[in-house]
Amino acid sequence: MKSKLVIGNWKMNLTFEEADDLLNALQEGLADYNLQTEVVVCPPYPYLELATDLAEESNFYAGAQNCSQFNNGAYTGEVSAPMLSALGVEFCIVGHSERRKYFNESNEVIAQKVDRLMEQQLIPVVCCGETLEERKADKHFEVVEKQIKETLFHLKKEDFEHVVIAYEPVWAIGTGETATPAQAVEMHKFIRSLVEKKYGTEIAYNTYILYGGSCNAKNAIDLFANEDIDGGLIGGASLKSGDFITIIEAAETTTKEN
Ligand code: PGA
Repeated sequence: MKSKLVIGNWKMNLTFEEADDLLNALQEGLADYNLQTEVVVCPPYPYLELATDLAEESNFYAGAQNCSQFNNGAYTGEVSAPMLSALGVEFCIVGHSERRKYFNESNEVIAQKVDRLMEQQLIPVVCCGETLEERKADKHFEVVEKQIKETLFHLKKEDFEHVVIAYEPVWAIGTGETATPAQAVEMHKFIRSLVEKKYGTEIAYNTYILYGGSCNAKNAIDLFANEDIDGGLIGGASLKSGDFITIIEAAETTTKEN
């Protein structure tokens, strides 16, 4: 089985001191592992430099939670992909459902953000996922297909190869309600089949498709045990170093077992 990818999305949490403590705890906690799993930590912007500095001498990479669809100019409050790149950031989450919901981000804007990240050789972690209403109405495949096609399928093959996809059912985010491994696998297989149709079998196999939504230290192993689940995008459980490291251990164990 290919190695897994585990990404911590801190969202808008932690003071500067707490962020510093958590990054140091992760550095120390992961130092003795010879990890196959790739680990990414995505703190809020003001803590990114702390993260990129530590990442240089640690077993993890630094990622951002968002970026602007523009490179520079009069866009008050925004942070661009070139700025992230200059800081040493290597990954960036885009299209998270919280950004879609609270900041009205459309698939079109998310596609532009993906392009800005690609121009800087940053890896976009592109989120997709349906709401509870959409799942109840049996529209989840349709919704996810539209999100994937409109945010990613304009990319050339050589660019698409660097993209990470995160399937995050909105009803599972921060709710304590996780998708069952069967529900996650069904959607991951569906997403992989879309990628296969567009970009071919090899790229489909190599594409990382992460699960996110109340993935925690207890349930990670059952989710990661499935070969279609290439790791996790972890919110709440990434704020505690012990829990996050247990999730990384689950990724290691399931990679070795398969
Ligand atoms: P959660 O968040 O793990 O707290 O549910 C996941 C995410 O939104 O990325």
